[in-house]
Amino acid sequence: MAIERTLILCKPDAVSRGLVGEIVSRLERRGYLLVAMKLMQLDGERARKHYGEHAGKPFFDGLVEFITSGPLVAMCVEGEGAIDGCRQLIGATNPLAAAPGSIRADLAQTIGRNLVHGSDGKESAERELAIFFRDNDYVSRRHDLERWIYEK
Ligand code: RTP
Ligand code: MG
Repeated sequence: MAIERTLILCKPDAVSRGLVGEIVSRLERRGYLLVAMKLMQLDGERARKHYGEHAGKPFFDGLVEFITSGPLVAMCVEGEGAIDGCRQLIGATNPLAAAPGSIRADLAQTIGRNLVHGSDGKESAERELAIFFRDNDYVSRRHDLERWIYEK
């Protein structure tokens, strides 16, 4: 395992429902560190780029419409095995299939309004983070990481 960075989005439904604090809290309680964070509204071009792997699928247009429909919170989250760990906290794509205790199982009902995005691998994380953040958006949390999280 290694220290990883992943892109987490609190999607527009999470912002509208006032669940950003709850979601950030769950990530922080797991010990993950926020190293970049931004409240923003995506335009169609960036949304299509972010979800490019799904272009042509039946749900693609609706997904782009939804993700651009209001403000979202984009975060870069850092920690040991953070990519898979965050996916575990978020739960399966369909809230009905998500493990109890996960964000989607606890707080969402439908696949199209599932509150959170998390990168699904190292390459996606790098690609997606570059869509949302520039180099100087990141802060260093090395001290916290070494002191509180990382088991040497
Ligand atoms: P995400 O990318 O948002 O973290 O979600 P995910 O990896 O769990 O799922 P993914 O397969 O990447 O799908 C991206 C988003 O598209 C919507 N979706 N709808 N109607 C459908 O069959 C369907 N499949 C996917 C979901 O909102 C999903 O989060
Ligand atoms: Mg995905």
